[in-house]
Amino acid sequence: MLIVVAALKGGVGKTTVAVGLAEAAANEHGSALLVDADPQASAMRWSDTASEEGSGLRAVTVSLPTRDLRRRLSGIGSSYPVVVVDTPPGQLPIVSAAVDIADVVVVPSQTSWSDLDRLDNTLDLARDARVPALVVLNRVRAGTRSWDEATASLEEARVWLAKTALPQREAIAATYGRRPGSALISLAGELVAEIEAGVNSRRKRRRS
Ligand SMILES: Nc1ncnc2c1ncn2[C@@H]1O[C@H](COP(=O)(O)OP(=O)(O)O)[C@@H](O)[C@H]1O
Ligand SMILES: [Mg+2]
Repeated sequence: MLIVVAALKGGVGKTTVAVGLAEAAANEHGSALLVDADPQASAMRWSDTASEEGSGLRAVTVSLPTRDLRRRLSGIGSSYPVVVVDTPPGQLPIVSAAVDIADVVVVPSQTSWSDLDRLDNTLDLARDARVPALVVLNRVRAGTRSWDEATASLEEARVWLAKTALPQREAIAATYGRRPGSALISLAGELVAEIEAGVNSRRKRRRS
């Protein structure tokens, strides 16, 4: 399963979600590959820092900030049950190359209107590549109107919306540069399960 985390907007939680998914998948399946396709290399730095601190990520992390991802991953990907690719906010050629090889695109978004308004660009990339896209709401605050409204507008737009949303948590922010603890891992594990179930049921539907 190749999961690409993409959003053409910066700061929405791509790297946090990518690291969370890779770590949860590594816990669940024994191994996972985290590919950092962002030239800014935040995921790679996260992984390096965690190793320097003595508790490295479980996922094997490589830096591949290139549009040549299909060729570069053709051998590696088959060795891992789950590959997670973190992508840059701009650099459309790299993001498109990642989306083109994905089984599923995970699109983190915050709940504000200005974030939701920017989702379509990313969802269009996935649609053009005929890859299912799952929107994951991030930094949500329980009981807020913005969460309710975001959910309603995405459901109305018939977007595939993850049941699991990531709350705004200091514990999640603090995991940057560390092996993620339970705050991120348990939610990311729910997301991995949701992604696997959703992708498999879509595959079955396509075959029948
Ligand atoms: N659920 C969350 N709760 C608190 N802080 C978060 C959460 N998700 C992301 N952040 C913080 O927001 C900032 C941007 O997140 P990041 O994953 O780097 O986004 P992107 O990769 O899209 O630029 C980081 O400082 C990160 O720690
Ligand atoms: Mg990032």
